[in-house]
Amino acid sequence: MSGLLDGKIAIVTGGSKGIGYSIAERFTNEGAKVIICSRNKSELSEAAAKIGCESYQLDVSDSKGVKSMVEWFSKKHGQLDILVNNAGLIRPGRISDTTEEDWDLQINVNLKGPFLMSNIFLPHMNEGSSILNISSTVGLRAMRGAVAYCASKGGVVNLTKAMALDLAGKIRVNCICPAVVDTPMVDERVQAGNISRELLDNVQPIGRMGKPEEIAAMALHLCGPEAEWTTGSIITVDGGQTAA
Ligand SMILES: NC(=O)c1ccc[n+]([C@@H]2O[C@H](COP(=O)([O-])OP(=O)(O)OC[C@H]3O[C@@H](n4cnc5c(N)ncnc54)[C@H](OP(=O)(O)O)[C@@H]3O)[C@@H](O)[C@H]2O)c1
Repeated sequence: MSGLLDGKIAIVTGGSKGIGYSIAERFTNEGAKVIICSRNKSELSEAAAKIGCESYQLDVSDSKGVKSMVEWFSKKHGQLDILVNNAGLIRPGRISDTTEEDWDLQINVNLKGPFLMSNIFLPHMNEGSSILNISSTVGLRAMRGAVAYCASKGGVVNLTKAMALDLAGKIRVNCICPAVVDTPMVDERVQAGNISRELLDNVQPIGRMGKPEEIAAMALHLCGPEAEWTTGSIITVDGGQTAA
């Protein structure tokens, strides 16, 4: 690896598995000091040990928890260079059957989480640092049977643009919209019997799901030194899905 993030400090939410794990692993291999966070403590510690990074147990939708993390972080590390708002979850449901509880859960984790992390960490971020939000292609175009998830991811797209305008010239804010990526989130949907892997492969014109490392490669570009003029950008990494 080429040390593109040498000397940088990065936080990756939802770094215990899937896309977040790959981003944390790639950033670590590029020289960054990385802190991953998620809720399940044993999975988090195991992932951190494998990657060789630090961890902090956190629910991103809990403002008290985020404030405690900032206190811990600023004492231990000082200033933050890269924040990746990746943590997210899906609870399928149509407009007719989505419960208020499922709505609140997905909006709170997927949309309020990135807001809280950015809002609360901002005073501890260096000029020239960057924030990356992970939305989804369903933040740009909807899919059936996932109203709250689609609404939350659409919110993340426009949150990214609004933050990029507010922070222009100081902190860059970008967003990746992946199509279907082969992670534990997808395994859960397959195991629940909602959908087959074959169908999920064929959602992309390329004919397969993405690999988490393919999202990590774009994350590295957007958070690294080669994207210094890139802000407010919403980048699809989607095997051609949104070209159709
Ligand atoms: N996989 C896909 O096809 C796909 C496509 C488009 C977009 N995305 C988005 O990409 C991101 C990562 O997805 P993934 O597929 O890698 O998911 P995943 O395999 O289910 O991993 C999700 C990660 O987020 C953490 N997390 C969930 N809720 C959290 C909370 N309240 N606070 C802190 N951490 C939390 C999980 O750990 P804990 O449960 O222990 O907290 C885990 O580390 C999500 O935002 C997802 O919406 C995924």
